[in-house]
Amino acid sequence: MTRAASGYRAPVDAPWWREAVTYQIYPRSFADADGDGTGDLAGITSRLDHLADLGVDAIWLSPFYPSPQIDYGYDVSDARGVDPLFGTLPDADDLLAKAHEVGLKVIIDLVPNHTSSSHPWFTKALSAGPGSPERDRYLFRDGRGPDGEEPPTNWRSVFGQPAWTRVEDGQWYLHMFDEEEPDLNWRHPEVAEEFRSVLKWWLDRGVDGFRVDVAHGLVKDLRDQHVPDGGTPNSDPAVMYDEGIEDDPMWDQPDVHGVYRDWHDLVASYPGERMLIAEAWTQGPEYLRGYLRSDEFEQAFNFRWLQAHWSAREFTDAIVSTLEALRPSSAWPTWVLSNHDAVRHRTRYGDGPQALARARAATLTMLALPGSACLYQGEELGLPHVELPPEHQQDPWAEGGNGRDGCRVPLPWSGDAPPFGFGPGDGQPWLPQPVQWTDLTVAAQTGRPDSTLEFYRSALEARRRYALGGDEEVRFLDAPEDVIAFRRGRLSVVLNCGAVPTPLPRGDVVISSGEPVGPELPPDTAVWLLGDD
Ligand code: NOJ
Repeated sequence: MTRAASGYRAPVDAPWWREAVTYQIYPRSFADADGDGTGDLAGITSRLDHLADLGVDAIWLSPFYPSPQIDYGYDVSDARGVDPLFGTLPDADDLLAKAHEVGLKVIIDLVPNHTSSSHPWFTKALSAGPGSPERDRYLFRDGRGPDGEEPPTNWRSVFGQPAWTRVEDGQWYLHMFDEEEPDLNWRHPEVAEEFRSVLKWWLDRGVDGFRVDVAHGLVKDLRDQHVPDGGTPNSDPAVMYDEGIEDDPMWDQPDVHGVYRDWHDLVASYPGERMLIAEAWTQGPEYLRGYLRSDEFEQAFNFRWLQAHWSAREFTDAIVSTLEALRPSSAWPTWVLSNHDAVRHRTRYGDGPQALARARAATLTMLALPGSACLYQGEELGLPHVELPPEHQQDPWAEGGNGRDGCRVPLPWSGDAPPFGFGPGDGQPWLPQPVQWTDLTVAAQTGRPDSTLEFYRSALEARRRYALGGDEEVRFLDAPEDVIAFRRGRLSVVLNCGAVPTPLPRGDVVISSGEPVGPELPPDTAVWLLGDD
């Protein structure tokens, strides 16, 4: 790996998020201060120095609110508290204060599409019965067919089951995810009022922003989904696209935007630069633009980079389509390769050292692109997705397979055996760590020049020096079919997805994702070069 040379250029005066690198923390798997095997807020606070050393600008915390943990906290039963599993409200305040002290912004998760079935609103809705105002906060409907035995629509949930569940009195309620996650009725004024109040509650405590879960899903058009002859209904935008299902009454309904205009004004009324970032798995970046109007979200996760396979053509398409889609708006792009819902990118690109080399190369290329990037905890260690034995698989989306648990295995910090410093003592974490992770711990990788951790530290430092403060332009250079080469300002970036070395353009090497680079770039490697303006 080649380290960054000097040549610092100060970022332009822009909102902090525009070119920020955000680090996603999945609290139950980051660090465990109390030794119960599950990560917690005090554990995060105790490890903030790792993030400051890494050089990220912000952290995004997946949910830590009271929850039965059926969907690991995305089933929220009280949006204004902290689940005892993760600590206390003072722990949250302490984390916020200490993160700010070391210069990190803090984004928290907001889950407005649904609550937990153990939320007091849902419990009351069940006992109040059909036609009651309590039921109207959710999407309860009578069924169809004789005795209402058929669900109100033909929808499938994202987790693969029917999206409606019948309750004892015969009515059905909608859940686009797990049946323990009933969807709220966003046409009900009390729902809107409740979430305004939740936003204020956390803004008052000092959070810098919210990642809005399922932002494209709050408002629905409750009618059957039309599917091509012989097809089956589906609610996963990627599957719908593959199967030619164009009808989409579940997502992206025009009325959802009113919610965000309201929130935008609320968030903007607070001092400092607070922000909203949408999680919206739309069919492509062109659909994201609607959420990025100047009076809605500041940012939206763009999953095109994550969805691209190891292919120069697919990576190029991701860049081009993203920039084209956003050009008519004032929003800047975002990029991400891994998160708590996806197979880790190291594993998506294959096995062994080659996959790791590719993962590092894709990361380095991403970090040169205009806009902001989001890292997922553990990718800076080069962690693979873990194939867990069936008895340890817990994800409700597992569908009998590995589900998302494989990217949620607790981080290895130090030592040569599980729990690798995840918590104090020898107590084992909630998901087992592979014994082979000895060389992947933070301690083992620190100071080792060829380690993935040192590579990430250098790449983020190089980004601050060379990749920030420019404009959004990406100028593609002539390159062989399996290679991407582009320029941003004085930086030339080359990514070799092919099987043979490729010649490099002129310029001084700033950093490479692999072995020091000569006149040619080896396969599975990316490089940044500094040339003339
Ligand atoms: C998206 C979250 O990222 C995922 O983890 C969760 O299961 C669903 N939304 C439901 O909240």
